[in-house]
Amino acid sequence: TRPLKVALLGCGVVGSEVARIMTTHADDLAARVGAPVELAGVAVRRPDKVREGIDPALVTTDATALVKRGDLDVVVEVIGGIEPARTLITTAFEHGASVVSANKALLAQDGAALYAAAEQHDKDLYYEAAVAGAIPLIRPLRESLAGDKVNRVLGIVNGTTNFILDKMDSTGAGYQEALDEATALGYAEADPTADVEGFDAAAKAAILAGIAFHTRVRLDDVHREGMTEVTAADFASAREMGCTIKLLAICERAADGASVTARVHPAMIPLSHPLANVRGAYNAVFVESDAAGQLMFYGPGAGGSPTASAVLGDLVAVCRNRLSGARGPGESAYAALPVSPMGEVVTRY
Ligand code: HSE
Repeated sequence: TRPLKVALLGCGVVGSEVARIMTTHADDLAARVGAPVELAGVAVRRPDKVREGIDPALVTTDATALVKRGDLDVVVEVIGGIEPARTLITTAFEHGASVVSANKALLAQDGAALYAAAEQHDKDLYYEAAVAGAIPLIRPLRESLAGDKVNRVLGIVNGTTNFILDKMDSTGAGYQEALDEATALGYAEADPTADVEGFDAAAKAAILAGIAFHTRVRLDDVHREGMTEVTAADFASAREMGCTIKLLAICERAADGASVTARVHPAMIPLSHPLANVRGAYNAVFVESDAAGQLMFYGPGAGGSPTASAVLGDLVAVCRNRLSGARGPGESAYAALPVSPMGEVVTRY
C-alpha cells in the first residue's frame, strides 16, 4: 500500500512530540492504519533550532509552499492562533489534504467556515486535541453519543485555574498566592489572562457546546466570567454549604429543546459531585444525556505528550479514512439550534 504523507505545521511543545511519536511508533502506526505514515515536511518559524530526531531536509519555513505541494494526505496544524493557521488549513483542503488541528481559538471562532471548506473539498477535519488535551471528548460527543441526546455538559477544561482553585481550597491560600505558586511551577504563563479570565475555557465551551448539541456556538456566544475575584472567604462559605468552587464551562440545552446556552464562570459544586474531586491541573468533563445518563471524562488537559496523544489518534482516524475513501462527520452533522444569550447567571452549576 502507498505510504500516507503527513505535513506538520508547527514544531513546538506539541509538534515535536507528534514528530517524535510518529518516528518511534512508526511500525505501530502503520499497522493500525494499514499503510506507512510518513512525515513529509515540517514547517517551523525558527529553522536554526535543533530538532532532535527530525531529518533537517524535511524542515522548512515556507508553510504555504508545504501545504500547496499537492501530494499530502494529512496536514497537522499545531501552530495555534487565528492566522496564519486559518489560511494554511483552508489552503491544505484546496490542495487535497485532510486536516488535524489542535487549535481551540480558531475552531471556536471559525469552526463553521473550516467545516464548510472541508466539506467543499470532501476532506476530513478532526480536532480532538483542541479541548482538554489527551481526554477523548470530541469524538465521543460527535460519534459515540451521536445517537443519544446530550442535555448538559459541565467541564473543568482549564488546568491552570483548576490548579489555583484547588490550591486555595486545600491550603486556605488567597488567589494571588496560589497564582504565584502556579507560575513558579510552570502551570501558569507569565501573562495568565487567557486562563484566569476564562477566555481559554470559553473557547473550549464553544467547541464542546457545538459538538454536544449539533449546532454552531462561537466564542462570542459564550457568557464568560473569570476566577480572579474568588477569595479564601468564598471557599470557607462554600465549605459550610458542603461545596467547593470550580471554574466550570457549562453548556446546556433549554428544557424545550429550542436553544442552547454556554457559559464559563466560577461555580459552587457539591463535594459529593465527581467534578469536586478533580485536583491539581487535571481536566474533567461531565456529560448528562437521555440514554447514557451520566458520563465523566477525566485526564491531563494540557502538555506536549498528552496533547500529542490526541493529535495522533486523529491522525490514525484520518489516515484510515483516506485509505477507505470514507469521511468523518462534517457540516451535515449540524442542525443549527439557536444559541440564547444568558439571562441572569446563577453561580451554582
Ligand atoms: N492553558 C491551558 C490550561 C492549556 O491551563 O488548561 C491547555 O489548553
